[in-house]
Amino acid sequence: MAAEEAVGAPPAVASQVEEKKGTSQQIDPYNVAGEVDESGNIKAIDYDRLIQEFGVQPLTEDHLRRFEAVTGKKAHRLMRRKLFFSHRDFDKILDTYEQYGTFMLYTGRGPSSGSMHLGHTVPFLFTKELQDMFDVPLVIMLTDDEKYLYTRNKNEGHQKAGAAADDFLDYAYENIKDIIALGFDPKKTFIYTDYEYLGGHFYRNVSEFESLVTFNQASGAFGFGNSTNIGLIAYGAKQCVAAFPSSYPDLFGYKDYRAPEYDLSAKRRHKPLSTIPTLIPCAIDQEPYFRILRDRCDRMTDPHPKTALILSKFLTALQGPGGKMSASDPNSAIFMSDTPNQIKNKINRHAFSGGRESLEEHRKLGGNPDVDVAYTYLSYFLDDDEELEELASKYRSGELLTGEMKQRCIAELQKFVGAFQEKREGVTHEIMREYMRPRRLEYQGNPNPTRPASSAPPANGVPAAEDAGAEKKGDGRGTKGERKAAKLAAKKEEKMATRQKAPDGDGGASSPAA
Ligand code: TRP
Repeated sequence: MAAEEAVGAPPAVASQVEEKKGTSQQIDPYNVAGEVDESGNIKAIDYDRLIQEFGVQPLTEDHLRRFEAVTGKKAHRLMRRKLFFSHRDFDKILDTYEQYGTFMLYTGRGPSSGSMHLGHTVPFLFTKELQDMFDVPLVIMLTDDEKYLYTRNKNEGHQKAGAAADDFLDYAYENIKDIIALGFDPKKTFIYTDYEYLGGHFYRNVSEFESLVTFNQASGAFGFGNSTNIGLIAYGAKQCVAAFPSSYPDLFGYKDYRAPEYDLSAKRRHKPLSTIPTLIPCAIDQEPYFRILRDRCDRMTDPHPKTALILSKFLTALQGPGGKMSASDPNSAIFMSDTPNQIKNKINRHAFSGGRESLEEHRKLGGNPDVDVAYTYLSYFLDDDEELEELASKYRSGELLTGEMKQRCIAELQKFVGAFQEKREGVTHEIMREYMRPRRLEYQGNPNPTRPASSAPPANGVPAAEDAGAEKKGDGRGTKGERKAAKLAAKKEEKMATRQKAPDGDGGASSPAA
């Protein structure tokens, strides 16, 4: 299923390849498959074509420079190497952060099994890096409901052993512990599963969003048909409104309205939260959801700014860019629970090589790092740019052999997986529960935003004064125009506070950082 298979090369099964001869590539949340040519060869995914087809923007050197200027930090290797290769409105998020200081990060995972692959960690590693660099709140959604509905749909309505709703909740717990082991800051990270958390203002957003999507639109985007179960058809609304900060009032110091307490002052969804923009780092197969989301952000009762996206490629399966990846084939992927020995054997035996047939040929003609799986994995996990560059050029010249490239890859993956496992062991049930508790998150955002706290709540929907860290921003004098706008904003805020009585009796200017 989507995330599970998205990690590797096209999850085409041998028997399906036959049927798919001569079909073009297909990428959506439920299918990740490269083109299959007339003779049945699966081709590597064509990302340039995806950019065209999806209408997303390529991530450029300019973005990297701008990112580094705004954060004052070196861009993460996954961005430097364009493994996160495209975006929507990433530049707007940088502008917002520079001027107003904050935004929300959102990503997720479908818990289709209890163990995660190396590839599953990629969006999370990157998200953690963004969270550290920007110092902003993060929500992580585990879609136990989606995986249940999808699996049952795939099995023609049958509920197989190990695939009941309760089982997917259990997978979610295991995955959450894995995610926590990647190092997210508990002060600014909220992780939840849909079965446990949906309700309150979140569910209000869900209903409203469901009313904005027709069956035709959903089936157009996801390939649903008349025999798709209705749960799966409706599911997308949940994944979409999960991007709205207004779905999580507790995290921002506002009250929710759900069992067992009903505080009448929090009955309505909190409008100030709808001004906080969101950035979603994820693999590009999830883009169809967020295309639907972006088209409807401004049609909500409280319009939200268009959600920004930063999108990654898929981590290649061991068998190579044209190979298949299967969760049931332990040799197609490296799992986060693999031993050092298993990692070594998998790379040595199964990693597709871009080297030549014979030693002599390799020395003479050189290898191709671009299709070499060991090199590809190093490009994801080896941080040292110079060493990576050297490995590539020595491989091309024939100086470096496939076995040597694999050695280097094995060492790096053993290090990464080993460090992960050590951390994972320490993630207890109690620690997991702490991340899953709805609570006010603590973050600072940009310590030096160019626009002061009391500046106008901008028309383009960036955080208003009510938002996080507000009172920490500058002296607030600004230009004459800004001061005038600030007055208006203060008035509006006051009105808001009386209308929906902000939590903690602080008049709505809730700063999670306080
Ligand atoms: N549908 C995703 C999957 O199957 C899970 C998910 C939910 C997600 N929300 C997300 C992924 C946001 C990326 C970003 O894995």
